[in-house]
Amino acid sequence: MDKSKFLNIILAIAVLVLVIQLMQKEDESLKQNKSNASIMVDSLTRTPDSLVVPFKKKSIGVRSAIYPKPAMVIGSYNEAGKPNIMTAAWIGVCNSDPLSIAVSMRPATYSYGNVTHSKAFTVNIPSSELIKYVDYAGRLSGKDVNKFKETGLTPIKSNLVNAPYIKEFPIVIECELTEYYDLGSHRQFIGKVIDVKVDEAILKPDDRIDVNLLKPVVYGGGNYYETGRFLAKVGESIDEIDGQPFVPDYSKIYANDALRVIHNRKSVRHFTEQLVSKEQIETLLKAGMAAPTAANRQPWVFYVVTQRTVLDSLGEQLPYAKMLFQAQTAIVVCGDMDKAGNLADKGYWVQDCAAASENILLAAESMGLGAVWTASYPYDDRTKAVTQILNLPKNHVPLNVIPVGYPTGEDLPKNKWKPENIFWR
Ligand SMILES: Cc1cc2nc3c(=O)[nH]c(=O)nc-3n(C[C@H](O)[C@H](O)[C@H](O)COP(=O)(O)O)c2cc1C
Repeated sequence: MDKSKFLNIILAIAVLVLVIQLMQKEDESLKQNKSNASIMVDSLTRTPDSLVVPFKKKSIGVRSAIYPKPAMVIGSYNEAGKPNIMTAAWIGVCNSDPLSIAVSMRPATYSYGNVTHSKAFTVNIPSSELIKYVDYAGRLSGKDVNKFKETGLTPIKSNLVNAPYIKEFPIVIECELTEYYDLGSHRQFIGKVIDVKVDEAILKPDDRIDVNLLKPVVYGGGNYYETGRFLAKVGESIDEIDGQPFVPDYSKIYANDALRVIHNRKSVRHFTEQLVSKEQIETLLKAGMAAPTAANRQPWVFYVVTQRTVLDSLGEQLPYAKMLFQAQTAIVVCGDMDKAGNLADKGYWVQDCAAASENILLAAESMGLGAVWTASYPYDDRTKAVTQILNLPKNHVPLNVIPVGYPTGEDLPKNKWKPENIFWR
């Protein structure tokens, strides 16, 4: 074989090997992409329900899993009388008589030395607005900074114990050290409560603290949270126990109140006889008028119907609004053509009034009321009927009639989550 033929064969083999290697590489990256895609699709298509198996417990080891924990600020003096604050979550009431509070501190904290020496401390309870100070007092040490000076908070010398309290915090508990225990990582200080001082702004007439006004802070999982939603009066919720175990539906727990309301809203078609007040209707209408509108035209007017005869007439004329015979109130959302703008965008009044209507439905859900959107526009016959019954001027076009009332509880929200309706690009 001559030399050039031999070289050509070697070259051809080398090219073949290169092509095979490239194809394998492509194949691998395709496989990788495919599995990434399937992970993504998988995580997107999983419904929240499939993530939760109630009552199936998994051991997570030794952790401080007390939820929620408090996040309060301890005030103390150093030997020279310099005031300091530190945030503590390892804190709680530990005795009733004498009323005592236990707080645990690491020896590395400046406050540890302060309290050991001064034999007193204050517990300063924040409202949620003060969270930045709570965070600051828990991240920096009095060994390095003057936390009062840096934050602008005001130290007030307690007239009862040898410790400062924070003027701007709404609740202050003044404690005298009675004993302490070295537990290992922390020293637990026990303080006898000498006095509690509370801002009058959050006190009820009987000197109880209004928790809604306080907006207490809780700490857990490395985050701070605001509390305050009323659940039940102590002792009253036991009335609901009937021997049937209740399985919490964790898939219906939402990250915040707005999402809870959105997902719990349902079309309510069954009402009790309880009347809805004028204030409640005004709250609904305020929510309606908070909706966005094209060019901020707010091209709407709202008719509030409470007369039995009128509600009944509407119920007779509107084929899908028979619940009006039961409801005590209805809101009719109308487009106001005089405010709807020029010809080019007059069409926006429907979107604008629809946004207002949805706000009304959501506000009703949030207030424990029920409501349902029953259509008027674009059906000519229904629009004519509503116009006639309410004696509407020509420029007011009724988009819908929304019966409002107290729900009987028969109507339930639907799960409309369908990942197949989403196209990700
Ligand atoms: C939310 C939160 C809770 C904390 N709880 C405690 C606690 O209970 N005990 C403790 O020793 N340190 C706790 N710390 C850490 C101290 O606040 C932190 O070490 C601080 O810098 C100590 O301040 P000092 O050195 O000025 O006393 C917590 C910090 C944060 C942010």
